[in-house]
Amino acid sequence: MRFPPQFLDDVKARLPVSEVVRRRVRLVKAGREWKGLSPFSAEKTPSFFVNDQKMAWFDFSSGQNGDIFNFLELTEGLSFPEAVERLAAEAGLQPPRASPEALEQEKRRVGLREVLAGAAAFFRAQLSARGGAKARDYLARRGLGEEAQARFGLGYAPADKFALRDHLAAKGATREAMIEAGLLVHGEDVAVPYDRFRDRLIFPICDRSGRPIAFGGRALEDAVQPKYLNSPETPLFHKGSVLFNHHLARLAAHQAGRLVVVEGYVDVVALAQAGVGEAAAPLGTALTAEQAELAWRMSEEPILCFDGDRAGRKAAWRAIDMALPLIGPERSFRFAFLPDGQDPDDLLRASGREALEETLSRALPLVDAVWTRESEASDLSTPERRAAFEGRLEAIAAQIRDERLRRHYRDAFRARRNALFAPSRSEPRPGARAGGRGAGARERPAGPIVAGPSLSASALMQPQGSGPGAGDALILLILVNHPALVERRIEEVAALEFSWPEGAALRDLAVAAAGEGAARETREDAAAGLRAAIEARGLSPALARCEALAGLASHWYARPDAAEADAEKVLDQAILHRRAAALNKDLADARRAFEAAPTEANWARFRDLQEQLRARGGLEASVDGFGVPSGRRSGGL
Ligand code: UTP
Ligand code: MN
Repeated sequence: MRFPPQFLDDVKARLPVSEVVRRRVRLVKAGREWKGLSPFSAEKTPSFFVNDQKMAWFDFSSGQNGDIFNFLELTEGLSFPEAVERLAAEAGLQPPRASPEALEQEKRRVGLREVLAGAAAFFRAQLSARGGAKARDYLARRGLGEEAQARFGLGYAPADKFALRDHLAAKGATREAMIEAGLLVHGEDVAVPYDRFRDRLIFPICDRSGRPIAFGGRALEDAVQPKYLNSPETPLFHKGSVLFNHHLARLAAHQAGRLVVVEGYVDVVALAQAGVGEAAAPLGTALTAEQAELAWRMSEEPILCFDGDRAGRKAAWRAIDMALPLIGPERSFRFAFLPDGQDPDDLLRASGREALEETLSRALPLVDAVWTRESEASDLSTPERRAAFEGRLEAIAAQIRDERLRRHYRDAFRARRNALFAPSRSEPRPGARAGGRGAGARERPAGPIVAGPSLSASALMQPQGSGPGAGDALILLILVNHPALVERRIEEVAALEFSWPEGAALRDLAVAAAGEGAARETREDAAAGLRAAIEARGLSPALARCEALAGLASHWYARPDAAEADAEKVLDQAILHRRAAALNKDLADARRAFEAAPTEANWARFRDLQEQLRARGGLEASVDGFGVPSGRRSGGL
C-alpha cells in the first residue's frame, strides 16, 4: 500500500533519526551529527553517521544511506509498509485509510514504474548493441567514459519509430501505460502512437531512491532540434520537484560536505567523472523552491554554478529572488561564476578539476551576491538615488522570513552602505602626497596603514575569503592606479587569478600597460594610456563597479594620488590574504575528509596542511591584522 508523502514526512518529523537508530547503534555526538559503529559491517572506527537535520543516516562502510524507514527495513528485515506502520505507531500517528481509488491509483503507479524501468533497461542495452555505435562515438567524443555511462545508466533510443513500443509491448506493457509514462507521442492527430525518444542519447531521470521516473534525450547532431527532449509531466514526474542525480548526490554530498548545483545533465556526469559526485541539476528550468528544499536536505549551503556571461548573471539574480524568502541560518546558497561562455563540462575539459575547484572556492555568499546585484545596477550620484538604493536594500532584507537572519542582513547592508557612501577624504593622509612616489614616500617612517571602518566591513576582512568581490575590486584598483607598482611586481601581478572575467581582463590591461610603461614619457602618460585602453575595451563599467565595491572614497590607498608604498603594502596584504584563504580552505576540506573517512592518508593530508600553515608563521596573524604593518603584527598562530 502506498502512504501519502505528507504522512511519511509527518512521521519523520516526529521521530529524530538518532532516536530510531540509537536502539541498535551506540551513538556519540560529533558536531551537529551523531556517529557510531556501522550496523552493517564489523568495524572498529565509526563510519556510521546520523544527521537529524537532514533526517538521514549515512553508512560509509557499506555506502548505504537513507531515512528511518529503510533503516528498519535494512536492520530488522521489515517490509516498507511494516516499517511505516511500526514507526507511525511510535509517533502516535494513524496511517490514513487507503480508499479504493487510492489503491487503484497506487496499482497504476507501480505499473508505470515497471514500464519506466523496462524502458531504461532497453535504452541501456541499445547503447551497447550494434545500433548504438553512433551514440558510443558521440560519448567518446565528449569524453564521457564507460564508468560514468554505467553509473548514470546512460542509454540510446534507436531511430526506429516503434522500437521501444514493440519491446515493451512484448513484455506485456499496455499502450495506455506507455502513454501515461510519457514514452509515446500520441494525440488526436496521431493515428498510431510512436516512440517519443528516437535517435537520442538517453539520460534517465531518477527519483531519490534511484528509480527512473523520466528521461532526457540529447540529439546526436547539432541540426536536430530540440537539443534536449524531456519526458512530459506524468503522475510520477513533475519536473519542478526533481533534481537530476538526487539519488547519487545525497551520499556524496554528505561525504564531501557540499553540494554543487549545475545546469545540465552532461555537467553532472562530467563532474562525477572528475571525482565530484556531489552534483545535481534542475531539469532545464531555473531552480524552483521545491528543488531548493531538496538541495538543502543535502547541504546547508549548496553552491549554485552560473555561467559568467550576462545570461548566467541574470539566472543567478533570479535564483536570489527565489531563495530570499526561504533562507535561514542553516539554509542558504553560494554563487559560483564560471569563466565566460563555459559550463562546468567545458571548464573541466579545458582546464581540469583544479580550475573548477578554484571557481567553486571563490563562490560568493548570498549576501555578497545580492550586494553585487544591487550596487552594480545602481547609480548613486545623488542623494535621491542613494535613498532609493537604500529602499531597495531594505525591501530585499524584508523578504527574509527568518527574523534573526533578516536582522543580520540589515546590519550587513548598513555597514556596506556606509562604506559606499562615506565622504571622500578632503585631506590626503600624511605621506599620501599627490603623485607621491620616490624616496620620500617610500621611506615614510611611521604612517601605519590602518584599516578604515569600510575596509573592516568589507568582505576582504572576512575569513574564508568570503566576498572575493570586494577583495578583487580593491586589488584591481591598485593595479589600475599604480602602473609603476605593477611594473615592479609584474610577475606576481600577472599570476593573480580572477574568477570574474572582466577582472582578468583588467589585470591583463594593467600588465600590458606596465610593459609599455617604460617606453612612455612619464608615469602619468602610462596611467592615461591604461585608462584609454580600459575605455576602448569597454571595461569602464567594470572599473566603475570596482570603485563602487571597494568604496574608493575611503580606501584612499587605492586612489591614484596615494603613495605607492602604501598601495604596495595593501597589495601585499591582499595577496597574502588570498593565499591564506586558499590554505585555510584546504585545511577545512582536509578536516572534513578526515572526519568522514578517518584514514591514514586523510590524516596525513590534514597534518601536512596544518604544518604548511604553521610554517608560514604570521600568515594567519596577518589575515587577522590585515592592514596592520608588519612591525606591529604579533607573530605565530
Ligand atoms: P544547455 O543548453 O546549457 O546544454 O542545457 P548543456 O547542458 O551544456 O548540454 P550540452 O553540453 O550541449 O550537451 C542545460 C540543460 O537544459 C535543459 C537540459 O536539462 C540541459 O541539460 N535543456 C536544454 C532542455 O531541457 N532542452 C533543450 O533544448 C536544451
Ligand atoms: Mn555543455
